[in-house]
Amino acid sequence: MTDLRTYISGRSSGEALQTATVEAILALAGAAARIATVIREPDASVDFAATRGSANADGDIQKALDVICDEIVAAALLAAGVATYLSEEREDPVPMNDDGLVIVACDPLDGSSNIDTNLSIGTIFSLLPAAAGPFQPGRNQLASGFFVYGPQTTLLLTMGQGVHAFQMDSSGIFHLLDWAVSIPAQTSEFAINAANSRFWNAPVAGYVADCVAGADGPRGRDFNMRWLGSLVADSWRIFRRGGVFLYPGDRRTGYNEGRLRLVYEAAPVAFLVEQAGGSATNGAGAVMDIIPEHLHQRVPFLFGSYTEIDEIVRHHSLSEPPIRKE
Ligand code: F6P
Ligand code: MN
Repeated sequence: MTDLRTYISGRSSGEALQTATVEAILALAGAAARIATVIREPDASVDFAATRGSANADGDIQKALDVICDEIVAAALLAAGVATYLSEEREDPVPMNDDGLVIVACDPLDGSSNIDTNLSIGTIFSLLPAAAGPFQPGRNQLASGFFVYGPQTTLLLTMGQGVHAFQMDSSGIFHLLDWAVSIPAQTSEFAINAANSRFWNAPVAGYVADCVAGADGPRGRDFNMRWLGSLVADSWRIFRRGGVFLYPGDRRTGYNEGRLRLVYEAAPVAFLVEQAGGSATNGAGAVMDIIPEHLHQRVPFLFGSYTEIDEIVRHHSLSEPPIRKE
């Protein structure tokens, strides 16, 4: 079996930026192995789901495990020579090494509302060249991926030449899986938080109504719905068997641009999705082309099987443009 170090070292030409990229990915894998152990082992001294009393920079409630994971990732990246750390859990970019060549954006613990439910959670990351500054479009990414802490600890990784999947063993080593990662073009499964349906815009409401109408409606076939409330877990399923994920902008206060963050959630997942033959849009254009204006910027995020995303985009072009500002 090929391990992660052998696999990614074999893809590097030895050029300085590629070497720095490999070092950062290996540091993230080391951090993920540590996080997987923290999650798995019983520890009566800490309540991982305890809230910190304060919201993080995004306005989400910070849990104790969010902060522990952020510290594990930050220490690993500092030691790996990373230039700047962009974290969901930090207000501003964190400068690390003056001579670093790579910026790492990270959601250290995605899906943290599921911590105490024993559902899959994960770590999402995006690597960018330091020379171009902290706020770059997703197209500039050198690599991206996410770890899932679930029944298995896994990694989906792209370095811009397709997507590869890995599974961690009991000693914390990630092994390449024999899986040609490709999102099936067709699907009859959608993922959306239907509790927000009264706030949806017309294109999203129209698309979902057509799915729910099933064989009796314009789509002429029945659909299924899944929503885990954990982006990494919903994404892994879509990479595995197809599907679409929708977190659109909606009319709730503070949700006009949806919930997910561009820099450390949507852009890295969009890079993986495009590399696996799917598509990722905000309803008006590719998520990969959006230039962030600030670290915690939100973005409507619709991705998955490309023929179904085409159908969602068709609804947007028929109807009002997606909500932009309050
Ligand atoms: O990081 C944000 C997140 O937890 C994602 O993992 C998940 O997809 C989403 O929020 C769930 O949002 P909601 O609780 O509104 O359904
Ligand atoms: Mn998250």
